[in-house]
Amino acid sequence: MSTIISVENLGKKYTLHHQQRESYTALRDVISNGVAAFGRKLLHPFSTSRPQVPEQEDFWALKDVSFEVKQGDRIGIIGRNGAGKSTLLKILSRITEPTTGRVKIKGRVASLLEVGTGFHAELTGRENIFLNGAILGMGRAEIKKKFDEIVDFAEIEKFLDTPVKRYSSGMYVRLAFAVAAHLEPEILVVDEVLAVGDAQFQKKCLGKMEDVSAKEGRTVLFVSHNMGAVKSLCNRGVILNNGAVRLDSDIDSVINLYVNSENSFDSAGNDNINCFENVGIIASGKNSFITNNDNASLAVRINVKQNRNLNCGITIYNSVGIPLLSSCMLDTYDVINIGISEYLLELPIQILHSGNYRVEGAIWDDFQVYDQRECLCTFDVLRDDSKLEINGVGYKGYLKLPFKWSNQ
Ligand SMILES: Nc1ncnc2c1ncn2[C@@H]1O[C@H](COP(=O)(O)OP(=O)(O)OP(=O)(O)O)[C@@H](O)[C@H]1O
Ligand SMILES: [Mg+2]
Repeated sequence: MSTIISVENLGKKYTLHHQQRESYTALRDVISNGVAAFGRKLLHPFSTSRPQVPEQEDFWALKDVSFEVKQGDRIGIIGRNGAGKSTLLKILSRITEPTTGRVKIKGRVASLLEVGTGFHAELTGRENIFLNGAILGMGRAEIKKKFDEIVDFAEIEKFLDTPVKRYSSGMYVRLAFAVAAHLEPEILVVDEVLAVGDAQFQKKCLGKMEDVSAKEGRTVLFVSHNMGAVKSLCNRGVILNNGAVRLDSDIDSVINLYVNSENSFDSAGNDNINCFENVGIIASGKNSFITNNDNASLAVRINVKQNRNLNCGITIYNSVGIPLLSSCMLDTYDVINIGISEYLLELPIQILHSGNYRVEGAIWDDFQVYDQRECLCTFDVLRDDSKLEINGVGYKGYLKLPFKWSNQ
């Protein structure tokens, strides 16, 4: 397969402006500054000036990033908040310029970045479809051919002649995704925004991205914190950490590293006083998935250095990012020990449908969150009751509760 995107030594520098002290000086400040200066003089007799806060500071959101994308690849770009994912996608979509390095792209890019980019607020849905098509270099006849498909997919027919500034964020994303995915770009770039849509629409978008790539050989770059979605869609992945590439590999290796060594990834606000050490699934079956006959538990290993009435909790998400259930340790276990300890939490497999699940976790007290992980681990459930479904008739809903039917 030929290389369609090549990113070489890419860097993006932002200049952060710090607020300086007020430009006017009140009498109160003269007095208090005088006292402070006197105190400093006592502590540091040879220092002549006060410590200076620089007015501005350079910050590299991306540093020396290089990777290649082959035609037809579906690349998941993952990393903690602030890792540089959106900055990278903005450069690839030519919305912002790199400070160093370069990007070579063969083909048209359609991108779906955060809500607010790509559409003209005053124009109607219909006008925006034509505008976006024209920007992608398509003729009017070509866009007309795709028009009905776009409107069908977005399910916004009634609002076609309403300016998009009146759309809800969900409607906006539906239309933006439909436009980006149907206007036949060689490269489709999607950043997180799908999280705005409802579960059913998210699923539809994942399916469409798979089609775009598998049936039409187009290339997809997908940023998401939802490991289930990344795993189901992507064949390759890149982990960004602090603006640099940490791993560029097949998707399973990338998710494994990200999930299993999250301690080594920077996380805003994580001071590592009390943190998760390791979390894994222990199942009675021999398979890599859990079946309805298996018992499965979550083994949670935490390291507590300071205990201030800590709580530790987990939330289970389904593959389209819907939180299904939460559990907190203090619900059933009332002391959290200092030191490294392992806790077992039995998973309610009997109420989970077949699918891929993600476990999120946090450790916190009344004052702060010590550790928060979007993905402590993932697991797959494979039930043998799928035969009970036919033509869309069967189990519905996110959970499978053990209702009892009885004969009166
Ligand atoms: N216009 C800007 N000016 C200054 N700093 C910026 C700007 N845009 C982004 N940054 C900084 O660059 C870093 C990377 O931001 P980016 O939005 O790329 O992160 P991200 O990986 O997409 O995070 P998230 O998962 O939260 O979406 C962050 O520290 C952010 O504060
Ligand atoms: Mg982002």
